[in-house]
Amino acid sequence: MGLYNDNPTLEGLEKTIDESKQGEVFSQSDFMYDPSGKKFYIESYGCSMNFSDSEIVASILGKEGFSPTKNMDAANLILINTCSIREKAELTVRKRLRIFEKAKKERQGTLIGVLGCMAERLKKKLLEEEQIVDLVVGPDAYRDLPNLIQSANEGDKGVNVLLSREETYADIAPLRLNSNGIVGFISIMRGCDNMCSFCVVPFTRGRERSRNAFTIVSEAKDLYDKGYRDVTLLGQNVDSYKWENPETKETVSFAELLIMVAEVHPDLRVRFSTSHPKDITKDVMYAIRDYENICKYIHLPVQSGNSRILKRMNRTYDREWYMQKVDEIYEIIPDCAISSDMIAGFCSETEEEHQDTLTIMEHAQYSMSYMFYYSEREGTLAHRKYEDDIPLEIKKRRLNEIIKLQGEISTAVNAKDVGQTFRILIEGDSKKSADDFKGRNSQNKMCIFSKKAGLKAGDYVQVQITESNSATLKGFIVESSDKV
Ligand code: SAH
Ligand code: SF4
Ligand code: F3S
Repeated sequence: MGLYNDNPTLEGLEKTIDESKQGEVFSQSDFMYDPSGKKFYIESYGCSMNFSDSEIVASILGKEGFSPTKNMDAANLILINTCSIREKAELTVRKRLRIFEKAKKERQGTLIGVLGCMAERLKKKLLEEEQIVDLVVGPDAYRDLPNLIQSANEGDKGVNVLLSREETYADIAPLRLNSNGIVGFISIMRGCDNMCSFCVVPFTRGRERSRNAFTIVSEAKDLYDKGYRDVTLLGQNVDSYKWENPETKETVSFAELLIMVAEVHPDLRVRFSTSHPKDITKDVMYAIRDYENICKYIHLPVQSGNSRILKRMNRTYDREWYMQKVDEIYEIIPDCAISSDMIAGFCSETEEEHQDTLTIMEHAQYSMSYMFYYSEREGTLAHRKYEDDIPLEIKKRRLNEIIKLQGEISTAVNAKDVGQTFRILIEGDSKKSADDFKGRNSQNKMCIFSKKAGLKAGDYVQVQITESNSATLKGFIVESSDKV
């Protein structure tokens, strides 16, 4: 699962029954249609938060007697958890609705629900635009799903797009849907108060709020006990995590939370996503440095390398400040990998300003990046204040330059790993060959290496790197003992 995904997650459609049988939550009968049954099929788009929310939805529905199916044709309830971040993400959802339309025509009584950010953004308008939709449910209203389903079954449309200042679903144990049983995600906060001018998230996800730290730690413990070895703490801006214990009035900062989760077990790797550069503290850096199992990897989206554009984007830092932050990270954690997000062709960006993005990428030596061209979103500050004046061809050309440079930087950064030995967590078989394992190192780089008897997913191995390209490392197991 990528961090951001504008493309369909067609896991349900792609996987054969036999493959899926290996998962914990699915059995053969889950793939058959039962008209009186209660089976739901869910597709997720967008960021990891959305994938994590789908697991909360699955848990809420599970309590109501619904079971998940990976076969859309077996479902009485078809859900799509949507993303609004760019126009393309919404277009993908519209296309999927056309496919669901067919399923609904073929099987009377099938309900179609739109969840997540697009539901929040469009609200009731979605019902007017998409006749086949029965449920429109925003990200803070999932507890209401059972009632909404009931009213939809009685012939009314079910709509709840209320945003909340408190909801964190802290007490809901997610039903892990597409997990390999090794890598899991824990949502630690919701919403965003940052108001970057290009971004729709504050409107679709509401105000920022942090989840009870103890429920986060117990979820991490539970995952560890179930065999998970890699957890990612999720939030739109994890560094501003702050939870006040209502009894003691003590607060837990993000650095403290990281340590609490890291102390669950030394073999449980802890990652987090994503960090707004303005909020990452030295304490977080020290925690990463001091705890072997807090991964040496920071996603630190820059968006642009030019100070005037950054100001227009309302990012609250400038070029120099960001470069210093990067230097500080490398100084405190020399083996840290940093990745980024970049937007090409923001309102009024000149060629010189675009060059600044390229040079900041060189400076930061990102191991990888998520790269986009600017897509204007209705209602955002940029939409109201600035003209989306960079022609599409220019946006695309600049984006291609960014992508090309990132490829070169990734290739060079990864080449430095050749000859080194890393502790890798085996995540499963390599996609290309059943003779190879795949797994990531602390720096979040994917490594491929030949299997060795007696080892399985969830084990740690020491792998010496022999080859690299822009996306992957290749190597061989030098030692299967799981201690560094
Ligand atoms: N909260 C995260 C970002 C979530 S959105 C953070 O601040 O790091 C993920 C990424 O989508 C952003 O970092 C940005 O690069 C991109 N993005 C957001 N709005 C966009 C828009 N209107 N057009 C193009 N890309 C956008
Ligand atoms: Fe959007 Fe900025 Fe919040 Fe990230 S920090 S979700 S880019 S408003
Ligand atoms: Fe998309 Fe909503 Fe995430 S807009 S990126 S799914 S918070």
